[in-house]
Amino acid sequence: MALPNAVDSTQEFLDAQTHVWNLTFNYINSMSLKSALLLGIPDIIHKHGKPITLSQLADALSINNAKSHGLYRLMRFLVHSRIFDKVNISDDEEEAYSLTTTSRLLLRDEPLSFAPFALAMTDPIIVDPFHNVMEWFKDESPSPFVTRNGMNFWENANKDKNFNQVFNKGMASDARFVGSILVDKCKHVFEGLKTVVDVGGGTGTVAKIVADAFSGLKCVVLELPHVVAGLEGSENLSFVSGDMFDSIPSADAVFLKWIFHDWGDEDSVKILEKCKEAILPSKESGGKVIIVEIVLDYEKQEDDAIETQLSMDMLMMTLLTGKERTEKEWAKLFYAAGFQNYKITPILGLRSVIEVFP
Ligand SMILES: C[S@@+](CC[C@H](N)C(=O)[O-])C[C@H]1O[C@@H](n2cnc3c(N)ncnc32)[C@H](O)[C@@H]1O
Repeated sequence: MALPNAVDSTQEFLDAQTHVWNLTFNYINSMSLKSALLLGIPDIIHKHGKPITLSQLADALSINNAKSHGLYRLMRFLVHSRIFDKVNISDDEEEAYSLTTTSRLLLRDEPLSFAPFALAMTDPIIVDPFHNVMEWFKDESPSPFVTRNGMNFWENANKDKNFNQVFNKGMASDARFVGSILVDKCKHVFEGLKTVVDVGGGTGTVAKIVADAFSGLKCVVLELPHVVAGLEGSENLSFVSGDMFDSIPSADAVFLKWIFHDWGDEDSVKILEKCKEAILPSKESGGKVIIVEIVLDYEKQEDDAIETQLSMDMLMMTLLTGKERTEKEWAKLFYAAGFQNYKITPILGLRSVIEVFP
């Protein structure tokens, strides 16, 4: 295509070039965030107790002096991404860096830290299969992950002990955040229940938060053997090693967070049918499935939220065989599995709580 002559169209092309460059270099955002976390920069600033200058930061990091120009450039980039703030702390306009709300959520010791999640999601095991998407479109593999690794995501987690740990810690950090909101803002969802089984509940973070918040409630976590190996329960929390496609322990309610988006429609209906078999009481007596997932809504949601949700959809397509769903797509699954109705509570920002009734 020839470049246009008119000044207006030239500007349009230059803007388009900026847009293409930004899209091309988007991964530098994730990788710079990852570098900051691996270096422990948020924790160092926090420990310093006040804005930290570049030389103080370089000292605290014990980096090679010859690389301090790199640290300046990394911090300049992270200030631009609003991970850190830049403040002037003296008359000679020496710059210093402070935490923002975003970087407070990246502190390692912050109870609701997102750091383990960000580190898991930027692990090469998760990032690399994106290089195989083109190949996957032409081969017979169920996912680019399988195209790349010759095994599925869960088989790989079972085999790679280090990644299994990184992934489970990442999930647990998100689970702490969601669990604390659930028991604070969504009490009604759990009130009156005596037993809940958390299917694919990872290392039991949400189950523990819920069991601790509601006296008399017993929680069971059903998980793959490599996730729950060696985990000990307590009086109100137990772990069962198994496969949700075979059977789910019976309970008043079945809880599933971030399970269905890992699976295609056919598998999701199978899981829902197993949930239905597991639920003991009627709807009137509290029987239900409780789901925490994204409900896509292009009309109502902000652009930023849609972009994150669609990124998650691409992630599910690349790593697994799953997808993110609109309300219509969710309803189709529920009715196909024989459920009567459902209620969506959009309380978790990018995600919602969906109660599904038998
Ligand atoms: C995306 S993670 C979500 C973990 C947890 N629910 C959370 O949100 O923090 C999906 C979980 O499903 C588990 N899983 C995968 N296949 C399973 C199966 N067939 N039976 C039981 N759990 C399974 C995985 O081990 C993993 O922990």
